[in-house]
Amino acid sequence: MKTFSLINKKGGVGKTTITVNLAYALAESCDLRVLVIDNDDQGNDTQFFGIEEGRTLADILLQKAGLSEVIQHTRYPKIDIVPSSEALLDANVVIIKDEDIVQQNILREAMKEVEEQYDICLIVVVKHFCNSTTYIFKNDIERECIINCVSKTPAV
Ligand SMILES: Nc1ncnc2c1ncn2[C@@H]1O[C@H](COP(=O)(O)OP(=O)(O)O)[C@@H](O)[C@H]1O
Ligand SMILES: [Mg+2]
Repeated sequence: MKTFSLINKKGGVGKTTITVNLAYALAESCDLRVLVIDNDDQGNDTQFFGIEEGRTLADILLQKAGLSEVIQHTRYPKIDIVPSSEALLDANVVIIKDEDIVQQNILREAMKEVEEQYDICLIVVVKHFCNSTTYIFKNDIERECIINCVSKTPAV
């Protein structure tokens, strides 16, 4: 599984638009198995794929569930999603405050469970959740790649 994080601290710069269209192109045109992880508490990507209930990424960060328990199928056969919700805000506060938790490793460790099940993982991230996503990939550029969505202000 090759992972790309689509990151920008601003809203309205195209993160969701790029993510859902890239997911569709990779799945439908390239015949790849795609996992989208919605790490934005607005949950626009989750809403786009029609997911309205169930466990979310917050349950992963709080280690209440494994990734496979949270992943939901979308209407597109080769696209699955880890949904987001407003609970992400509180979950991030909890893990930031807990000095016993290495917050940068939680998602990375969780993703190992589905490593063989997908070809591509797209993580859509807003800046204030970068700790739980961005930095875990910075030191592993052979396996992971970070896309900064277009903006006048660099995100990282
Ligand atoms: N390349 C583009 N050209 C014109 N409008 C765009 C483009 N990409 C996105 N938009 C529009 O910009 C708005 C915000 O995009 P969105 O993907 O929701 O941003 P974000 O996820 O970063 O908040 C949406 O209304 C979307 O339709
Ligand atoms: Mg968005």
